[in-house]
Amino acid sequence: MGVAIIGGTGLTTLENLEITHREVVHTPYGEPSGPITHGILHGHEVLFLARHGYGHTIPPHRVNYRANLWALQHLGVDRLFAVAAVGGIHERMAPARIAFPDQIIDYTWGRSHTFFEDDLAEVTHIDFTYPYDDGMRQLLIDAAREAGIDAEETCTYGATQGPRLETAAEIRRMRNDGCDLVGMTGMPEAALARELGMGYATSAVVANWAAGLQPAPISMADIERYLQDGMTGVRQLLGALIPRL
Ligand code: HPA
Repeated sequence: MGVAIIGGTGLTTLENLEITHREVVHTPYGEPSGPITHGILHGHEVLFLARHGYGHTIPPHRVNYRANLWALQHLGVDRLFAVAAVGGIHERMAPARIAFPDQIIDYTWGRSHTFFEDDLAEVTHIDFTYPYDDGMRQLLIDAAREAGIDAEETCTYGATQGPRLETAAEIRRMRNDGCDLVGMTGMPEAALARELGMGYATSAVVANWAAGLQPAPISMADIERYLQDGMTGVRQLLGALIPRL
């Protein structure tokens, strides 16, 4: 079955992807972030979607997560590798580091976060004890080791609402809660994937130290620089990952 990559900030295109075509999918939940890109990456068919749109214009709280996931499943995707920019909270999560979270704490609000709300035959709950697919996480870990990337193999992702960055106190609270990373798009994406029965794993790229961990305010120029370094690592990671699929 199919593999897809959702690219986040810093990864709106996959430069090694030989694009075969783009497909517009209309969904019962509205429009995805853009047409789905079909292509060949390292000899394997993959689908690609830029989470914030190919022009990077859709902010995290406005991403139509349900439409994105529904569209990918409609095209046969059953394994979804997400890439996401994050801030580092734990001291091991320095800028440009890559991490594969194994847990999530959700601080988002007001997002359309479930497929199970209308026209139900009965109230439906999903198990979400372990929000990421273990086998897919292991593939990422193995690929990173093979590519010589020093990735963090377990950590907790805190999902915030955005689009503003956090306050220093919010980050202190998140650290006390057990968050190692902070990002704005990990939820509801992971839960929606689980509701659809799709395997889901994330490669998080640290773009900056989270708010209050450095004396200076967070600089957007620094974020961009570190993201570029991190995304170079993600491209190497994908080069080692895709042949394993
Ligand atoms: N906070 C939330 N999301 C982010 C950050 C951050 O510091 N950096 C990149 N995405």
